[in-house]
Amino acid sequence: MTAPPDPPCSVSLVSLATLAKTGVAECAFGPPDDPFRVVVFFERERIYAFENRCPHFSIPLNFEPGIFWIYSGSELMCAHHSAMFRLEDGVCFDGPCNGAALRKLAVEIHQGTVWCTSPPFRVTQDAP
Ligand code: FES
Repeated sequence: MTAPPDPPCSVSLVSLATLAKTGVAECAFGPPDDPFRVVVFFERERIYAFENRCPHFSIPLNFEPGIFWIYSGSELMCAHHSAMFRLEDGVCFDGPCNGAALRKLAVEIHQGTVWCTSPPFRVTQDAP
């Protein structure tokens, strides 16, 4: 009996054209009742990807689908209790979880698509 194959090393998140237009994309992987949520931002010509899970209450950072609060192109506010996070490293610098951090995800762009290159979740999608 052979071991099951390793999961693919990357998973597509969103097209770069769409992300550049909207500035944000939400993705979810896994079972619908307990998905792994990802949010990707395009701010100041840079891409930032995080697990969409506030370290304060372990719930998504947004209240409404696709609506995230970004300030000065570099700071993200959780919609629930106003924790403030730096996009650069995901660290909370103000609010109820000061010093905690969002889980930052590595991304790369290939052929016009933004890929998560080290997903901390099991995926079934084929790599390019
Ligand atoms: S759940 Fe994000 S600040 Fe409370």
